[in-house]
Amino acid sequence: MDKQEMVEQAKQMMGLFLTEAKQYIEASFEKKLQIETKSNRNDLVTEVDQYIESLFTRYVKQYFPTHRIFGEEKAEHQVESLDGAIWIIDPIDGTLNFVEQKRDFAISVALYLDGVGEYGIVYDVAKDDLYIGEKGRGATLNGQPIQKVSQERGVANSLLIANLSAVKLYPKLEEAIRVSRGLRLYGAASLEFMAVATGRVGAYLAANLAPWDVAASKIIAEELGCVVSRLSGEEIDMLHKGTSIVALPKVYLELRNSYLQK
Ligand code: IPD
Ligand code: CA
Ligand code: CA
Repeated sequence: MDKQEMVEQAKQMMGLFLTEAKQYIEASFEKKLQIETKSNRNDLVTEVDQYIESLFTRYVKQYFPTHRIFGEEKAEHQVESLDGAIWIIDPIDGTLNFVEQKRDFAISVALYLDGVGEYGIVYDVAKDDLYIGEKGRGATLNGQPIQKVSQERGVANSLLIANLSAVKLYPKLEEAIRVSRGLRLYGAASLEFMAVATGRVGAYLAANLAPWDVAASKIIAEELGCVVSRLSGEEIDMLHKGTSIVALPKVYLELRNSYLQK
């Protein structure tokens, strides 16, 4: 199967998976969730996160039996190399929002081939907004092409999103926030990436994101002309957690040159 055939088949599979996932998530709004904590009291997992990842696994096994899966919730979904075809999934990005307010959470899924992101989706379930990116073919929102981001807009004309840990790591960011139009925080990395990718926000800076938080969003954001890297400027590798920035090109340069210095 060549790459394009694989992506076409992936789209078919994704349509079926997302329809089923949305139904399950909406039904869960009526029920009492089983909530467990992971690394700390605000790092949550529910049976919905686990179900969505296992539902996706069933689809991949049926459509692409040789592909591997790298996911947040299943210990066996861990990988040590990016060789071959790998699906990277965050079944619910923004679990705390999902638990507390039933909005501002998303399903995030990407297909990487030999380490290159080829196809990514971010699905804002509550709004029924589906963002799709395909390497070299642009990005869409609910089937409509999304415009590329501005080349001219800088920090002074942009809202910024930054988590506190990022500001602690790079204290000059406080000044960047001061000169910007203001600070926003949504609590779901993939939706924060989409806010930048669609030009609503100038940059999103975070201290500790996992590959599944950024894998799909990075493909979509780059297709729309955003710059994505670690806060240090290095490439993000899809095997390890670390800092990240996604920004409009001019905002990126301004932040890197003036505010992302220690
Ligand atoms: C979290 C969200 C949050 C970000 C955390 C992530 P989760 O994902 O994206 O916005 O600040 O670093 O872990 O745990 O809800 O999938
Ligand atoms: Ca996440
Ligand atoms: Ca998650």
